[in-house]
Amino acid sequence: MRRILVTSALPYANGHIHLGHLVEYIQTDIWVRYHKLRGNDCIYICADDTHGTPVMIRAQNEGISPDALVARMHDEHLTDFKGFHIQFDNYYSTNSDENRQLAEEIYLKLREAGHIETATVRQAYCPKDEMFLPDRFIRGTCPSCGALDQYGDSCEVCSATYSPVDLKEAACALCGTLPVERDSEHYFFKLKDFEPFLKKWTRSGTLQDEMANKLDEWFESGLRNWDISRDGPYFGFEIPDAPGKFFYVWLDAPIGYMASTLDLCNRTERNFDTYWRQSNESEIYHFIGKDIVYFHTLFWPAMLEGSGFRTPTAVFAHGFLTVDGQKMSKSRGTFINARTYLEHLKPEYLRYYYAAKLTSKVDDLDLSLDDFVQRVNSDLVGKVVNLASRTAGFIKKKFSGALCDHYPDDGGLLAEFAAAGEEIGQHYENRDFSRAMFTIMRLADKANQFVEQQAPWVLAKDPDKAEQLQESCTIALNLFRALITYLQPVLPEVSEKVIEFLNVDALAWNAVATPLPGGHQINKFKHLMNRLDRKGVDKMVESSKQALPTPKKAQAPSSTVEPIGDEITIDAFSAVDLRVARIVKAQHVEGADKLLQLQLDLGELGQRSVFAGIKSSYKPEDLEGRLTVMVANLKPRKMKFGLSEGMVLAAGNGKGLHLLSPDSGAEPGMKIR
Ligand code: MSP
Ligand code: ZN
Repeated sequence: MRRILVTSALPYANGHIHLGHLVEYIQTDIWVRYHKLRGNDCIYICADDTHGTPVMIRAQNEGISPDALVARMHDEHLTDFKGFHIQFDNYYSTNSDENRQLAEEIYLKLREAGHIETATVRQAYCPKDEMFLPDRFIRGTCPSCGALDQYGDSCEVCSATYSPVDLKEAACALCGTLPVERDSEHYFFKLKDFEPFLKKWTRSGTLQDEMANKLDEWFESGLRNWDISRDGPYFGFEIPDAPGKFFYVWLDAPIGYMASTLDLCNRTERNFDTYWRQSNESEIYHFIGKDIVYFHTLFWPAMLEGSGFRTPTAVFAHGFLTVDGQKMSKSRGTFINARTYLEHLKPEYLRYYYAAKLTSKVDDLDLSLDDFVQRVNSDLVGKVVNLASRTAGFIKKKFSGALCDHYPDDGGLLAEFAAAGEEIGQHYENRDFSRAMFTIMRLADKANQFVEQQAPWVLAKDPDKAEQLQESCTIALNLFRALITYLQPVLPEVSEKVIEFLNVDALAWNAVATPLPGGHQINKFKHLMNRLDRKGVDKMVESSKQALPTPKKAQAPSSTVEPIGDEITIDAFSAVDLRVARIVKAQHVEGADKLLQLQLDLGELGQRSVFAGIKSSYKPEDLEGRLTVMVANLKPRKMKFGLSEGMVLAAGNGKGLHLLSPDSGAEPGMKIR
């Protein structure tokens, strides 16, 4: 028996659980359930990630304490997880005494060993709110493309990344005040000290190949020391011997894995040290999304190593969810909260669909809504549930619920199903759930072929065929039992119903080979699962559109009227070559949320390709043929999606954008003076 501790990343306490998160929690839950089913001592540990500025600000906006907000979100998260049958052995909070103690212990050990240093950091500060502003709490004009109302660290229009000091017309996102720069002493974790250790650790079978390669890139570009402190006011733990300084949320977040384990151990027979101090006593696995690999494969193992704890056995990263091939989008209604989903659809549809698509790779996973409906109906309802619903009734009606006295000759079918258990188990273990589902569905096909060929509904009409009827239904139900046994990690609710219907204590993996005993009594077949109706899916999408939140105070500092900027000379203005341009072609840019690609005709000056952040306000087809105004001598910029050779002009206030157009008579290429 293996002793295994499994974690999912700790969801932020400032947001609701959505279908993207659920890729991870469902993936982890299936893996944990599989291990439990195989008799391993496996525990699933998680918690809310509570600290940081966003939680503090949100609580302020709601007029409640951060603790009250954290408590409410904890309940909401747990309710959502339960709704999807995600079963934690402990779901705790990073805002706990255990976490404070462990964070302090780790920090002090690192400090004693010389892995902490201080340095002065110059940072944006809001004099009105009297706080340092994290990059996300500064908004302004992108220094690279001029897009308005962008975050302090990156532009959503042109994907440029920059330092907040380079942002133009910067404003505090909370109050709109111009931030000032201020120095502050920060604490740093000397990640570089751990370079040799990390190089070895990442190549010791702990990571998927794609991740290990990514890490090589990071090693090549050099490891930098990590800023682990934030100045108050900050919702978090104060750093020992450093009044007014707090641990950055990402320092204590992963320690939350340990704190949640400690809380469980304090309440049960389990021993904390066997998990976190002695690596030969247990295995530890972290399931995470690809966006947080850096934290889990560099900072985290280095922190553990440097403070005398054990390091994880492996870190498993998964990709991101797309819906119908695109990033989840609030306006399209594909940013779907767990709650909204559950109001319309059954959790096991999604569990099965994710399982059918999940692999051990870091690839993104697409929830294609048509395919979702089709797959659930043809596999789960058509192949699995039907097997029982087409045969159970005959046993109940014609044989008072009793199976045959002896398991009949099935031509080796059940033996084949039992033999497949080994392979299916391997796929689960390797997180190749899609292969596991594929293999199970091939077995289901065989079982259905058998039933079709026996045609119990025909046999039932002929009193002379009673024996054969009982035999074929007995075989079908034993095969059905095998399928549900293998699907148990994915379909816990259906499995429960099947246990009751088959009148057994459990569906044990190793019991598949042994048929239900002769004369075994089954219970009345209860309805297991409805077909998935596309209308329900559409309603869910529709209500996700309606659930679009009004922009939150903290994130919407953009005033309708912006102050006039600094004065410039006429020469400075003349340096800008503005021209009339005709939009000859406009199209969507794959993977870009806000951009359209425009082909602009400047008459004799030729054509230009320009990326413009106007997708939210214009349909491409409505733009083609119209005239607008462009900056023609802007230095071409290489963007993520290609080269942009200029810029079109639009008026806007963060709510909508309005392209400029010349009066009638203007022609492409004309200079604007
Ligand atoms: N709080 C941090 C994790 C701290 S772990 C010590 C965090 N929280 S999160 O709420 O943003 O995300 C939780 C997990 O869900 C992460 O692993 C993240 O990668 C995953 N996902 C969030 N959105 C996702 C998708 N759209 N698709 C797939 N997984 C996604 O990160
Ligand atoms: Zn402010």
